[in-house]
Amino acid sequence: MKIGVFDSGVGGLSMANAIKKAFPQYEVIAREDRENLPYGTKTPEQLVNLVTPILEQMVEYGCDVIVIACNTVTTNIIGRLREAVSVPLVGLEPMVKPAANITKSKSIAVFATPATLASERYKYLKQNYCKNIAIFEPDCSDWASMIEGDRLQINKITKNVSDALQKQADVIVLGCTHYHWIEELISNIAGKKARVLQPEQAVVSRLRSVIEQLD
Ligand code: DGL
Repeated sequence: MKIGVFDSGVGGLSMANAIKKAFPQYEVIAREDRENLPYGTKTPEQLVNLVTPILEQMVEYGCDVIVIACNTVTTNIIGRLREAVSVPLVGLEPMVKPAANITKSKSIAVFATPATLASERYKYLKQNYCKNIAIFEPDCSDWASMIEGDRLQINKITKNVSDALQKQADVIVLGCTHYHWIEELISNIAGKKARVLQPEQAVVSRLRSVIEQLD
């Protein structure tokens, strides 16, 4: 079994690490598209043109299933990618529904790329699961590049987290896999005031059931 993991950059590597840990018996092949990063400022059309050929190569290379470890790609174009490639795709999206279930303050924060926040899928999640919940979406437009280049601007990160707390958010959703690398930093700034959610374990569970169906 070959499991492919795709993202624009280091977000995929954080997901690939979690997948390798959960499935040590399988080969995990991570592919990134660093040349075209950030994806978070691209249109759905641009994303389709960039991602489709890469997934086709991954299928040719023998991947039996591919994890789209990118919220931007999943929320904007996963349906179109599923039509284009012949293996199952496991995507991920901002954990708005779980956040809505656990918030006590009825206020959550979603940290994500501009393209994810603008996607129809994200709008659907908000409309369906967050009817009486305030959602704070700070500007994280340069975070993926900042994390990719390992040039963390602690003051920017601190500001967005502090602003979220100020708005009474008690759940912070990491809606971009690049941000998984700074989960600990965000959790430390939030302290006990907010829980930080990210989807690695949910993706592992979903992947497990897809693999069972393939076997
Ligand atoms: N890691 C990706 C995500 O989950 C996108 C980062 C980017 O290239 O903007 O959305």
